[in-house]
Amino acid sequence: MSYLVVTTRCPISYERVAGKVLRRENIGGVAVSLNKLMSKEGGVWICWGDGSADSEHLEENYNGYKIVRVLIPQREKKGFYDDYSNGILWPLFHYFRERIKYYGGAFDSYEYANRIFLEAVLKNVSNDMVIWIHDYQLSLLPGMVRQKSIRNTIVFTWHIPWVSAEFFATLPESRKIVSSIVSSDVITFHTDQYRSNFIHSADFLLGKSSDYAKKSFSIPLGIDYSYYSVNAVRAKNPFDSAMKVIFSIDRLDYTKGLTNRVLSIRTLLERHPELAGKFVYVMIVNPSRTSVKEYINFKRELEMNIGRINGEYASVKWVPIIYIYKKVNDATLLSYYRYADVALITPLIDGLNLVCKEFVAATDHGVLILSKFAGAATELKESLIVNPNSLSEMSDALFNAINMEKQEIERRLSLLKAEIKKRNISWWLARIRQAVERSNYEPTISDFSQE
Ligand code: G6P
Repeated sequence: MSYLVVTTRCPISYERVAGKVLRRENIGGVAVSLNKLMSKEGGVWICWGDGSADSEHLEENYNGYKIVRVLIPQREKKGFYDDYSNGILWPLFHYFRERIKYYGGAFDSYEYANRIFLEAVLKNVSNDMVIWIHDYQLSLLPGMVRQKSIRNTIVFTWHIPWVSAEFFATLPESRKIVSSIVSSDVITFHTDQYRSNFIHSADFLLGKSSDYAKKSFSIPLGIDYSYYSVNAVRAKNPFDSAMKVIFSIDRLDYTKGLTNRVLSIRTLLERHPELAGKFVYVMIVNPSRTSVKEYINFKRELEMNIGRINGEYASVKWVPIIYIYKKVNDATLLSYYRYADVALITPLIDGLNLVCKEFVAATDHGVLILSKFAGAATELKESLIVNPNSLSEMSDALFNAINMEKQEIERRLSLLKAEIKKRNISWWLARIRQAVERSNYEPTISDFSQE
């Protein structure tokens, strides 16, 4: 069995910088896992060539499989990516109703772009392939493929939250989207809750059917545990050893709870002024979706809050928040994971979140503070679970984490590590394969915890 994988992001892309073409590897969790699968099984990976030099590399053989890049014309890119995918679907599926802007014509561009992916699927599919489509940018693709009478098994993996049925139904195109997704043979989510919301949405909009539950699975994505645990050991310590280091890394996104995080640092300092100068919060934020208006406005709001809190509490020798707004390389990231004392991962809502898993794999002494609304919280029960809307809960968790006894840290870490090691990337891929092979297989998170 080989795979025809379809994602918007490519495993590698080409950028023209100062007259030179740079080849960039995508180090995101999904890309890394799929690359692992594809290099083992072979096949074709179709993705969007939006790198500035990608048009010169439309097809290439890479790691034992073929990458096919599709191009989306500039005039459709805005409607597809900025307006519909990230201006409508993204806020909708994260319950940010007030951030949704129903741009006219955006759905047409979205449909148009999904058709461009369809053309590439039709050109590259062969009978023995499983077609594996990913995420909210490509929700119309399964239906389009089926309309072309392609009979191959289709797997559709949804990486973000799925909202309640009545909320989803507020989207004018909700029926079209859900009808397309249910034409897949296997539909996977990262938590039981999202799976259940999806089944209710399909029942609500298309009429009740036992078929939706039968083909939907909750299979949380895992990481390459040994990569993080082995490589982090070689990382260099960038910090003064007496300083407690709180750390986070995220894309700049209003779903990540970044503003509340910096406000919780202020609450911590208000309640425990003796901590001034004793800790630092290193907040790495990766630029993301910089052409989408909501993201531009959110950046301003976040930076204003960071500036205000640093202004209130800094001295000539110390600032509470070190804000780094850029992409960091892998080696730097590993060094932060390795030497941070606390990881503060508190999204307001998140499909899964892999940073918390990577941190646990890499650290040998760290405490994880995790939002109860990150998909991964259903698996990582030994972290300090907080409600990211409560500054008080977050500040208490920070205080506890900074002061936690070594023995308690070790107890929690060994349980967390065991969990992440067990349900790693290979486990995820094997479970999805099992779901493809056994149509009567219906896993839930509770099944997983009994293994
Ligand atoms: C989330 C989504 C992915 C997306 C990624 C980065 O993790 O689930 O589908 O690729 O964010 O966002 P971007 O807009 O840069 O692709």
